[in-house]
Amino acid sequence: MRRPVERDVGAIIDIVGDWDVARRLARVPHPYGHSDAVFFLDEVVPNEWVWAITRYGSDRLIGVVGLTPEGSTAELGYWLSPAWWGRGVMTEAAQVVIDYGSTALGLPFLTSGYFADNSASGRVLQKLGFIPIGSTKRSCLARGVDVASIDMRLDKPDHPLLARPFTAR
Ligand SMILES: CC(C)(COP(=O)(O)OP(=O)(O)OC[C@H]1O[C@@H](n2cnc3c(N)ncnc32)[C@H](O)[C@@H]1OP(=O)(O)O)[C@@H](O)C(=O)NCCC(=O)NCCS
Repeated sequence: MRRPVERDVGAIIDIVGDWDVARRLARVPHPYGHSDAVFFLDEVVPNEWVWAITRYGSDRLIGVVGLTPEGSTAELGYWLSPAWWGRGVMTEAAQVVIDYGSTALGLPFLTSGYFADNSASGRVLQKLGFIPIGSTKRSCLARGVDVASIDMRLDKPDHPLLARPFTAR
């Protein structure tokens, strides 16, 4: 994982421009073009904690995962090229970001959310330990409508030593 940079513009447009990706995201327009990718690199990346996901041995961006500041904490968000869906990539990448948010940034908890018709994302969040805390309607820019969504939250686990059961001496 590394910072997204200008040479990623083509890959970002290819992936986020795909309707199957765009319709599952809240903040991206459809169609998605060069100026949208430049906005992402110039305005979003410097102001949030954002990582490009690459495969081992390759520099090509295949997805993005990040934390958007939100009050005293942050919201986890992500997208991945459909060519790589279903191989555990996002669960592994998001776990790294969660650990960074917890340890390096000291965030007390994280939030996330997914559209109710995006079960794969719900499953990713479940695997990461997020729990549902409510449902709402969230604007989807690509679809141009509000979409039923599930709000999720991940609390920082208790200190591992405290969480460990007592053992006989
Ligand atoms: C959501 C997304 C990031 C998942 O990435 P991924 O690398 O395929 O995720 P993983 O392989 O780590 O885990 C996916 C899980 O969802 C499951 N899954 C896939 N499709 C599913 C479906 N239709 N219903 C229920 N579960 C589904 C997989 O079986 C897997 O669970 P498992 O490990 O128990 O088998 C990817 O699909 C994506 O980029 N989608 C478009 C953008 C998006 O949805 N972003 C999130 C917005 S909230």
